Amino acid sequence: MRTDLAAYQRDGYLVLPDFLSPADCDALQARAAELVEGFDPGPVRTAFSTRDQGHAKARYFRESGEAIRFFFEEEATDQPAALALNKIGHALHDLDPVFDKISRQPKVAALARDLGLAEPLLLQSMYLFKQPQIGGEVGWHQDATYLHTVPSTVTGLWIALDDADRDNGCLMALRGAHRGPLRQRFHEKDDELITSTLDPAPWPATEPVALEARRGTLVVLHGLLPHASAPNRSDRPRAAYSLHLIDGRAEYSPDNWLQRPDLPLRGF
Ligand code: FE2
Repeated sequence: MRTDLAAYQRDGYLVLPDFLSPADCDALQARAAELVEGFDPGPVRTAFSTRDQGHAKARYFRESGEAIRFFFEEEATDQPAALALNKIGHALHDLDPVFDKISRQPKVAALARDLGLAEPLLLQSMYLFKQPQIGGEVGWHQDATYLHTVPSTVTGLWIALDDADRDNGCLMALRGAHRGPLRQRFHEKDDELITSTLDPAPWPATEPVALEARRGTLVVLHGLLPHASAPNRSDRPRAAYSLHLIDGRAEYSPDNWLQRPDLPLRGF
């Protein structure tokens, strides 16, 4: 496989159909179902509904950088977890053998190298459900807002585990807009997570491109590329597996939300 670097540099994304085998897609979906099966939502939902809601929720999130944790859709109220989860994150690739093996297979390593990551580190993984009817929207953002290095090296690998189209909330992107500045940072300050504006420049007024993707397609997202996805109002799920890489040569910002004090980052 040859990686079209010129297109990546021009557009800020690459769409690679049939990147992940159907067997690997099956394995990820089956493993996610098992993890959900073994997850007891009671304590988590209860913790979030007490007076300490804000703190408990923040801690559950902040510790998830080196854990496997479960996050619910905002619109989900009483549904069972299997129908109500928004995502699982954020260290599936290090803590779960199935996700580890598929994330670190040679073709993913080769892609990272092709993209110019000389010392690739697997920073974050998410299993994204985008459930039928209730799967929420993800607003326009740049991934470097959340995962900051100097210089910026964060690179998203997003893999469709169901066919993703306009009706079930496929990725949307502003083609070429990765050449603009980083607008915001989401970071720790005085033990709180806050969003700071770095550059008030609006997103370019270009027509968003729908990155429709069949199952197994991998979409590479430049860390500065503005992207989003609409809610899923269809009756079809739109599961995806997302992996974020950084280059170990860059400086990892000490105030990023995601810190790994007990689980050092690893490459391929
Ligand atoms: Fe993103």
